[in-house]
Amino acid sequence: MIAGRWLIALVSCLCWTAHAAPARVQIDLAREKAISPDLMGVFFEDLNHAGDGGLYGELVQNRSFEFSATEQSDWNNLTFWTLAPRGAAKGNVVVEQAWPVHENNPHYAVLETLVAAPEGMALANSGFQGVFVQAGEQYEVSLFGRSLYVGERWKNPSQGALPLSVRLESADGTLLAQSRFEISPGEWQRYSAKLQPERTDRAARVVLVAPELGALALDEVSLFPVKTFRGRSNGMRADLAQAIADLKPRFIRFPGGCLVHGNGIGNMYRWKDTIGPVEQRRQQANLWGYHQTVGVGFYEYFQFAEDVGAKPVPVVPAGVCCQNSDRQGGTGQRGLPLESMDDYVQEVLDLIEYANGPVTSKWGARRAAAGHPEPFNLEYLGVGNEDRITFLFKKRFEMIYAAVKAKHPEITVIGTVGPFAEGDDFEQGWQIADQLRLPMVDEHYYVSPDWFWQNLSRYDRYDRAKSHVYLGEYAAHEKDRRSTLRAALAEAAHLTSLERNADIVRMASYAPLLGREDLLDWTPNLIYFNGSDGVFPTLSYEVQKLFGTNGGDRYVHSTVTGLAADQRVALSTVRDSASGDLILKIVNAEEQPVALTFDLQGGKQPRSTAQVTVLKGTADETNDYRNGKVLKPVTTALRVADKSFPYTAPSNSLTIIRLAH
Ligand code: AHR
Repeated sequence: MIAGRWLIALVSCLCWTAHAAPARVQIDLAREKAISPDLMGVFFEDLNHAGDGGLYGELVQNRSFEFSATEQSDWNNLTFWTLAPRGAAKGNVVVEQAWPVHENNPHYAVLETLVAAPEGMALANSGFQGVFVQAGEQYEVSLFGRSLYVGERWKNPSQGALPLSVRLESADGTLLAQSRFEISPGEWQRYSAKLQPERTDRAARVVLVAPELGALALDEVSLFPVKTFRGRSNGMRADLAQAIADLKPRFIRFPGGCLVHGNGIGNMYRWKDTIGPVEQRRQQANLWGYHQTVGVGFYEYFQFAEDVGAKPVPVVPAGVCCQNSDRQGGTGQRGLPLESMDDYVQEVLDLIEYANGPVTSKWGARRAAAGHPEPFNLEYLGVGNEDRITFLFKKRFEMIYAAVKAKHPEITVIGTVGPFAEGDDFEQGWQIADQLRLPMVDEHYYVSPDWFWQNLSRYDRYDRAKSHVYLGEYAAHEKDRRSTLRAALAEAAHLTSLERNADIVRMASYAPLLGREDLLDWTPNLIYFNGSDGVFPTLSYEVQKLFGTNGGDRYVHSTVTGLAADQRVALSTVRDSASGDLILKIVNAEEQPVALTFDLQGGKQPRSTAQVTVLKGTADETNDYRNGKVLKPVTTALRVADKSFPYTAPSNSLTIIRLAH
């Protein structure tokens, strides 16, 4: 019976294919227009532990003892740390702030040993749901330390220096690797060593063991894999960074998102707080409900962009905080006092100098001191994110824009037009863009797959004389927020319309980029990951990658005949000047294959063999890594005997055809 049903389905499918006349795609090779080569990029924001506990290589959580109940009600300075006396040892741990490493890093731990024992007082950190270490790999452990209570009070025979062992241990206490420091009294000093665990452990701990009588002040306790992405110190987790690099992003927008304008004025993301030695950076609450170490700060963002070959697109607050601050549901926007705006505007100008200024300039020198004398070649600057468009906002935005435009006309300032594809903020944001003749605005929309299909002509109607568009955040949201092929194909269809309109839609980035699967604030995300070696790209990721690796700088005009108006088929053709390749993209979200005939009009005969890459499956499918059911694009050869050639796009598929000349 089941076989019979399948047979009927197969026959009807074959009949449909056989009987439907192929739709005709005429590609006019003489009609091209220049399009943005920067179209495909990424947007990085530290939500879902994308940064701390994610891309940032740090394996210790709460390394500076700065976690607090303002971040999560049950957190304090010792959260994720556990004190355990071992053997006959007795003692305790307290948090102090009398003599900090730096005023921006005010708290530190004091580990006291009141009864000494060889096994020692142990202070253990459990990392981000466990510390992942791999056998044979090297890890750099480091900490700031001072020994306390030396001399008379404790009759310490070692004249002040106290031993501290740093151990990597399994949860059951099995030793994986260790090192020992002699911690001196007096000024804070940094201690570091390389550890090489004997075996892999996905839930290890970093354990500080103080065996001798006395007390140790400890701060900035850190464990990093030596093999970070491109071997950078204070660098990125290599596998996740590689997954981002594989998208071939032309740009990276950072650090947010809502994170930029922050929960209240004091929580706005201020770039100067995020540069310099990590132990001196001003940490703060992450508005997504956790803690920002700002270990990935603006230097690291710029460096990472360079490392993946992307242009940096930093976003600064527009002098206002998020309208949802203090749970005010859209009325919580506050602005920096106008009398402080000159300083704030200077802060924005200083960012441009930090990125591009000569090493002889004040901020260029800071960049050089951090290790990058060459400029970072900043071209774009985002000002504001999804801010409610109010008088408060407009006033401050205008001040920032006027100053940047006057001093740095070479920088493309990107304004904001709210969180939706339409509505008050969208309209008013665009009005500001028109009035100020802004170079570019940042549109956002998270909408259903249907919306994408119904709005494929959105940008065809845009006025070419107005501001360019950066589609800074978008994703197709299924009702259950799953990353289905249906959603991915809707995004792919939308991308064909962006390519067609890439004379005005200059850049686009899916959002959000990363989601740690056990610590999610938001779904869907482009790439899921776990705390060890799991990196789980979604089908939307495969679509982004196919467009990112098959971009172009010329859009080639085509006309399609023979498709029904409601048929979910979308196409685009671009040329990549560097390779000379003509790249055809075909999205078919129908449940049947669609027969097409391509006619290349004008131009030269392409080589007889083209490369065809197809991502296909069933509409409801998601990449299921646990069960090994993962859809990947498959590349084969396609014979192109003539300038007219047939191609049948499989049901629920994205096809890329690369024609070389
Ligand atoms: O991408 C997640 C969030 O969505 C961003 O922080 C914000 O800009 C948008 O509302």
